[in-house]
Amino acid sequence: MVRRAIVPLAARALVLKERLRSGVAWNPLDHRYHQDPFPFYARLRERDPVHRSELLRGWVISRFNDVDAVLRDHERFSSDIRKSPVARDAVRRGAPVPDPSMLVIDPPDHTRLRALVSKAFTRGAIEAWRGRIEQVADELLDEVDPRAGFDVMASFANPLPVRVIAEMLGVPPADFPFFKERSDAVARQLEPTSTLEQGRASMEARRELSEYLDAIAEQRRHEPREDLVSYLIAAEEEGDRLTHEELLLTLRLLLVAGNETTTNLIGNGLLALLRHPDQFAWLTAHPERVDDAIEELLRFDSPVQADQRTAVEAMELHGRQIAPGEQIILLLGAANRDPRHFPEPDRLDLARSDRSHISFGRGIHYCVGAPLARLEGHVAFAKLIERFPSLRLADPAPRFKDHVVLRGLERLPVTA
Ligand code: HEM
Repeated sequence: MVRRAIVPLAARALVLKERLRSGVAWNPLDHRYHQDPFPFYARLRERDPVHRSELLRGWVISRFNDVDAVLRDHERFSSDIRKSPVARDAVRRGAPVPDPSMLVIDPPDHTRLRALVSKAFTRGAIEAWRGRIEQVADELLDEVDPRAGFDVMASFANPLPVRVIAEMLGVPPADFPFFKERSDAVARQLEPTSTLEQGRASMEARRELSEYLDAIAEQRRHEPREDLVSYLIAAEEEGDRLTHEELLLTLRLLLVAGNETTTNLIGNGLLALLRHPDQFAWLTAHPERVDDAIEELLRFDSPVQADQRTAVEAMELHGRQIAPGEQIILLLGAANRDPRHFPEPDRLDLARSDRSHISFGRGIHYCVGAPLARLEGHVAFAKLIERFPSLRLADPAPRFKDHVVLRGLERLPVTA
């Protein structure tokens, strides 16, 4: 989706052209959109469900059934970043093409890599981490002073996931901040609002992370442990299952994919709860329903709001002609609020008991880290309501980052 450093004036002209053509404008560079995309989603869903974005030169899909169908149809909608307009654009500008990690490739290579990673990410394997995740959550919350007030993002939501995934990869604690900083820099490149400078920082961060992970892998090669890295190295050494480059890309993907996403589940989810005190009170009265609550929070304000594919063949969707090679932007956050699928979608209802949200994707690329994200979410919300049952917002309108893909808060000040 990346179109770096789009000039604001040119952007406005393109968006105006869009509005004239379809009656709806979709401007992902607009700061109002970053703070509250839901009214914009509603207009797209109702008036132009397959919307042509001049700005990002792609088709924007917003209804639940359409997003669901595209994600399941990996033959007609490719994930391969090397075939995408983003890569073609990068080649034209002489910029580096994004790396082909498992997330952004198609079968058969995707199938092979996915099978390896899935084995390490079974519910059982993840469950073994529960005690450690609880310990990390407690350590972080022991440090805050709820009466004086604290920023949930800085003290809890940012550090928790990076510590967990870094420990899983065997990174020593002193290097957690290095990991977090580089991981965020890499993820920033997903955003259409990312600047040229951030793009360069992202490339540099990718290189640094690969070097770092290479050193960890080398260490494990000589001293194998019962961990994820050793398991993937064993697969690499067996021969044709995993190349060294794939090993490093997979480790880097696990770090980046499991980081800001889970942070945003905690941040966006807690904000939604604190804005709905009746729901917060319900959860403190029904802590045994925390897993249901997490599914509803994932639906209500998805940590990943947008995804992308490339059309493989010509097709028609809602009367629009899509050509092969064109970019498809899937608004997961809009699909999750589609009234055709969820009754009263704008109402936060923790007891909804509907787990069909699309926040972890669908089909062959369905989030492999979902069991870990759910476990971390469970621990985070269970601890927060148990330790701070009278938590409330210290700032009624905390700011979201200027992100379109990974929607999350800059800060979340609270008191208890
Ligand atoms: C609440 C937190 C999370 C959310 C909302 C989330 C969301 C997603 C989504 C939407 C996809 C599908 C992308 C696509 O189809 O193009 C995905 C894939 C993926 N996620 Fe997550 N994720 C989360 C946490 C994690 C964690 C904790 C990890 C691992 C440590 C992880 C690792 C991955 C990987 C490796 C893929 C690629 C799977 C594939 O291509 O087959 N995610 N995630």
